[in-house]
Amino acid sequence: MTQHTIDVTPAPQATVAGWWRDAVIYQVYVRSFADSNGDGIGDLAGVRERLPHLAELGVDALWLTPFYTSPMADFGYDVADYRDVDPIFGDLDDARALIRDAHDRGLRIIVDVVPNHTSDRHAWFQEALAAEPGGAARARYIFREGRGEDGSRPPNDWESVFGGPAWTRVPDGQWYLHLFAPEQPDLNWENPEVHAEFEDVLRFWLDLGVDGFRVDVAHGMVKAAGLPDAGFGDQVTMLGRTVLPYFDQDGVHAIHRSWRRLLDSYGGERIAVAEAWAPNAERLSLYVRPDELHQAFNFHYLTVGWDPREKRDVIDESLRTAGQVGAPTTWVLSNHDVKRHVTRYGGGEVGLRRGRAAALLMLALPGSAYIYQGEELGLSEVLDLPEEFLQDPQRARDPESGRDGCRVPLPWSGDAPPFGFGPGEASWLPIPPHWADLTVERQSADPDSMLSLYRAALRLRREHPALGDGTLRWLVGPPGTLVFSREAAPGSGAAAAGARLTCAVNLGDRTARIPAYGRPLLASGPIRPDGDCIVLPPDTAVWCDVTTGGEPGKDR
Ligand code: GLC
Ligand code: CA
Repeated sequence: MTQHTIDVTPAPQATVAGWWRDAVIYQVYVRSFADSNGDGIGDLAGVRERLPHLAELGVDALWLTPFYTSPMADFGYDVADYRDVDPIFGDLDDARALIRDAHDRGLRIIVDVVPNHTSDRHAWFQEALAAEPGGAARARYIFREGRGEDGSRPPNDWESVFGGPAWTRVPDGQWYLHLFAPEQPDLNWENPEVHAEFEDVLRFWLDLGVDGFRVDVAHGMVKAAGLPDAGFGDQVTMLGRTVLPYFDQDGVHAIHRSWRRLLDSYGGERIAVAEAWAPNAERLSLYVRPDELHQAFNFHYLTVGWDPREKRDVIDESLRTAGQVGAPTTWVLSNHDVKRHVTRYGGGEVGLRRGRAAALLMLALPGSAYIYQGEELGLSEVLDLPEEFLQDPQRARDPESGRDGCRVPLPWSGDAPPFGFGPGEASWLPIPPHWADLTVERQSADPDSMLSLYRAALRLRREHPALGDGTLRWLVGPPGTLVFSREAAPGSGAAAAGARLTCAVNLGDRTARIPAYGRPLLASGPIRPDGDCIVLPPDTAVWCDVTTGGEPGKDR
């Protein structure tokens, strides 16, 4: 086993048990967050310079997308060296400095680990290509003979998430499996060497001081025995909706259990969050059983529309299934793989209003929440990027499915692109000129901005004992609304003092009058008191404080 330098900086509040159960974690898409050296590409030093923004926002931790050595066929999700930093993003000293500075500011650091596949430039895959079929080097990946007399047909009918067959043929006639791009060959997790290698990679980063991992494609590492056909086409449309022979196989859980043991052997509650597209909430909850990973992104929540019934159903189902295994739920609205939610919720003024209300709804729900960079600025999907800039490999499946539009660099300051993204004129994707109104600088000065709303909500979430981990109780509200009450954890001093908060959201298209469940603390839009009620316009949410010890609705 490799010897690693131990350079651990203490994690913040290392004594807070279960810190992750209600943590708010900010996703940094490193390439597009902040550029320190003017090449137009975000980097680790850029993240470090902008830590004050994140501390002021009030999040608990950052998740950094892959910054490891990579040919960037899938923007870093094709890793060539898991223990080094790609020169585009900096070097290991930058990573150390970032971890240290983040900890100094009370922010934890979660890094990505990509165990389902490596880059085709990874030393192992290069070795595998050079080796004879059937040898040990090929056994780290999934090489098979093709079908048909001359083996010219792929070994089975599996399709790549990025389009086309999931198999590519090499010159000696064998095929290798890649559930994503051909530059991302799938590893063979039946091979003990693969397990040992990843345990060592995890240790490398844990020894450097990281507080946890986001596990990429955590549902994909184990494939059904014998690699049977899926039996139907357009498999990608069924992702996260049905069990496929290459996703959400029961065998993945043994890996997660062994990783949990490894994490627990370190101090400071290091965590792992699963990127797992499971067919339903019940299956998703298996990833967060007590001896498995800590969190799993709730993509069922992410994918429902702006609809009160659907939202309520997915909230109930998520809380029920996570509760069965004693885990918190991990809410998420956007990430670097999906259209930004302001756009999904209707775009324009409507999308923005709903984005504001969605933030208050998500942050009032019990459990943990992830914020995707730029969500706090109300950024929408950039739908009109010039063709020559589009680079996402997922476009091979369908040009419309490209993910470039949610990865546009952040606007920080000034009146013209690239809005302080870096010291130079460049940004790897062009930033729309109208984002001048959305810069961090401009929004900081405006108490009604999306940024001010997120800051206020996160501050209240930290201060109010009824928010964060715990349970939820639905209250009756008019049609189109969701109203619920949050109570401080039973047995706590705050509970004894009757600490309670209600959240009301109007997802309907008509103005609603809801009983004034206490004193309004924060609203996403213009609300108005009216006797014993609050008038809540469509697409608006409000938090009310009910900390007076009485029944909700009776207190003012
Ligand atoms: C995950 C990542 C995505 C990447 C894919 C392949 O879904 O979030 O960006 O393309 O895995 O690694
Ligand atoms: Ca740079």
